[in-house]
Amino acid sequence: MNILVCGGAGYIGSHMCKRLARAGHVPITFDNLSTGHEWAVKWGPLVRADLLDPAAVAKVFREFPIDAVMHFAARSLVGESMQNPGLYFRNNVTGTLNLLDAMREAKVDKLVFSSTAAVFGNPLYTPIDEAHACAPINPYGWSKLMAERHIEEYCRAHQMRAASLRYFNAAGADADGEIGEAHEPETHLIPNLIRAAIDPSTGPVKIFGNDYETPDGTCVRDYIHVEDLCDAHLLALDSLASPGGFRAFNLGCGQGYSVAEVLAACRAQCNGGPEAEFVDRRPGDPDSLVASSVAAASALGWKPSRDLYSCVTTALAWHRRSSSQVQGETS
Ligand SMILES: NC(=O)c1ccc[n+]([C@@H]2O[C@H](COP(=O)([O-])OP(=O)(O)OC[C@H]3O[C@@H](n4cnc5c(N)ncnc54)[C@H](O)[C@@H]3O)[C@@H](O)[C@H]2O)c1
Repeated sequence: MNILVCGGAGYIGSHMCKRLARAGHVPITFDNLSTGHEWAVKWGPLVRADLLDPAAVAKVFREFPIDAVMHFAARSLVGESMQNPGLYFRNNVTGTLNLLDAMREAKVDKLVFSSTAAVFGNPLYTPIDEAHACAPINPYGWSKLMAERHIEEYCRAHQMRAASLRYFNAAGADADGEIGEAHEPETHLIPNLIRAAIDPSTGPVKIFGNDYETPDGTCVRDYIHVEDLCDAHLLALDSLASPGGFRAFNLGCGQGYSVAEVLAACRAQCNGGPEAEFVDRRPGDPDSLVASSVAAASALGWKPSRDLYSCVTTALAWHRRSSSQVQGETS
């Protein structure tokens, strides 16, 4: 199939493009490169354009015989969304609406959407299943929930089929070390710990809070390997072959790790580094976020197979490789 991958130059989207190509599909990346990278688009064409430009979105459907869409394109920094909510609503909600209109016009009816655990806000219970109330606590989470709602209504009104995959904390990198997580700024724990271990001149990594209601006082999160997420996307795409409207699935390992445990796992792989220091809590960080992926297991047949060790070792291998390439280029 020809799959339009919106956001295919980004972290998770580029891994998906590689996986699609391996499965015999053609990934067509549509990306404005606002946070993604041209070097990460290796497995199909890149259309450099913006979802906020409806004419450009319509054009890609005329130029390529697209069978289905995977939509990763979004702004996804919680802090930035608090500072600039308009940027998030326009990009993540209006961008999705433009995509849905172009799909409808082109009669493309299958969509796999990247959603997030942030749609739930502060959890009332864990593990969090799909029956948990959605109550986002920041504009990023709201923008994703609103995009989901638009998709659901288009499915109902226009006989489209969509799976919304709500990832918990994506981590890890391509097993071959060809691509990995390269955000700037980086807000995710594992790449920040690894960067600091590789280059101690960046200073100690800040750990926000050690007085949470968790066994060691640091926040607990569910880390899901990016390649397990790609598996889920392929299974979700297969599931859209049968009519089914809109469904949302939570994707995580179902196992929480505290920040202190992740730090220890990184230190075990990085010769003792990195340095870390405890600072005050960040407002709005829940104590614990752990997914129940029972619905994805039963409806899609999805089972994650990579653990925290695999998240750390694949990310480390990729960061070592990319930092030695940068050093080679600058020396
Ligand atoms: N990384 C995580 O832990 C995580 C967790 C939950 C959900 N998600 C969601 O998964 C998706 C992918 O996340 P990521 O970490 O790969 O992000 P990323 O920033 O690496 O990738 C997003 C890509 O979308 C592109 N993009 C953004 N706005 C665009 C627009 N208007 N038009 C065209 N291209 C645009 C960016 O240039 C980038 O290449 C996002 O939707 C994010 O909200 C990520």
